[in-house]
Amino acid sequence: MAKAGWQRRAYSIDAMRQMARAALPRPVFDFADGGAEDEQTLRRNESGFDDLQLLPQPLRGAAQRDLSVTLFGKQLNLPVIVGPTGLAGLFWPDGERCAARAAAAVGTGYCLSHGSVCTLEQLAAVGAPPRWMQVFIYRDRGFTRELTERAASCGYDALVLTSDNQLLGNRERDIRNGFTIPPRFGPAEIMAMAFKPGWLWRMRSELKRITFGNYLKPGEIVDIGTLAGRMASLLDPSMSWKDVEELRKIWRGPLLLKGILHPDEAKAAIERGIDGVIVSNHGGRQLNGAPASIDALPAVVDAVGGRVPVLMDGGVRRGADVVKALALGAAACLVGRPQLWGLAVAGEAGVAHMLEIYRREIDRVLGLCGIGRIADIDRQLLFTRYRQDPT
Ligand code: FNR
Repeated sequence: MAKAGWQRRAYSIDAMRQMARAALPRPVFDFADGGAEDEQTLRRNESGFDDLQLLPQPLRGAAQRDLSVTLFGKQLNLPVIVGPTGLAGLFWPDGERCAARAAAAVGTGYCLSHGSVCTLEQLAAVGAPPRWMQVFIYRDRGFTRELTERAASCGYDALVLTSDNQLLGNRERDIRNGFTIPPRFGPAEIMAMAFKPGWLWRMRSELKRITFGNYLKPGEIVDIGTLAGRMASLLDPSMSWKDVEELRKIWRGPLLLKGILHPDEAKAAIERGIDGVIVSNHGGRQLNGAPASIDALPAVVDAVGGRVPVLMDGGVRRGADVVKALALGAAACLVGRPQLWGLAVAGEAGVAHMLEIYRREIDRVLGLCGIGRIADIDRQLLFTRYRQDPT
């Protein structure tokens, strides 16, 4: 079947980013695209991959490639998981459920953000496993428990505790654009958005409904400003390992810690019974000056020593990036912004297309490297000048 025009133009993740830039109002695009302060960490997340080179051995022969991985007892068709991003419903109506359906169709995992527009119950009703839920530690520890119990009662497969967002990063693009969380949609803002008529038309009845679904109490009608205030006041910068231990007691399923960059934190997490760590700097949106995820990954992998899966996110824009991360010991990668570009371009079909780009690229890279299975990827695949093998 002939491809739609947008699919032909969306030939890479970067091409999708450019299309999203054209489709979205500037403040919305920048909200997703931007990072903290001077954005060095954001940039290094992507450019860090340039320092790694793949050393192929095509004569090993890999006519067929199997891209599947097993994580926490569930098989994924692809080592790429859709990571948690708040307000996905600002990029396409019902954005979270569109992305979850796309992930399910491709056969990979989806992690819902605490800050989703739909509620975690509404997302669960899509019935798309494996489905993970991301939470924070709140001042009111009872609320952390409440969210965790809600996730358990609607069958989420894993819980992800994000540790690097207890204070909000200094995102200067948002300040420059007057973008607030929650977004304001007064006449001036709508006027500014009128230059993107496609988005505005699509979102015309949604904008009034944009909210942080999980923070609403049953039956409650509250404006989003009040809700955001509630959310910010709920985050507790005094979060510590004690909270991780408490959460471990409440949540019986796989528990992952997201935001790990220091190998000692990875070790401490395992001592507390964490089932997986996600090496992440929040896509460069929090601590500018933190190392790129791909740079931090090897030391964390070494510290973990194979005891639990290590995942990573940040700057993964090519199938080759995924393969490099796996070569350094990651079990899988998560992608943040690329799903939002997918949503902005074509909703559910856009996210499916984004995942298909990764699938195609990983498959080609493995074929060119002479690797038939994900399990056969290891550090030997990375080129080291003047490598001295211990023989
Ligand atoms: C995020 N991220 C994020 N992480 C999290 O744990 N909870 C959240 O609610 C959000 N929200 C969020 C919103 C937006 C707009 C972005 C871009 C990111 C961080 C996200 O999960 C992930 O760590 C990074 O996005 C990964 O980097 P890349 O793939 O965007 O480069």
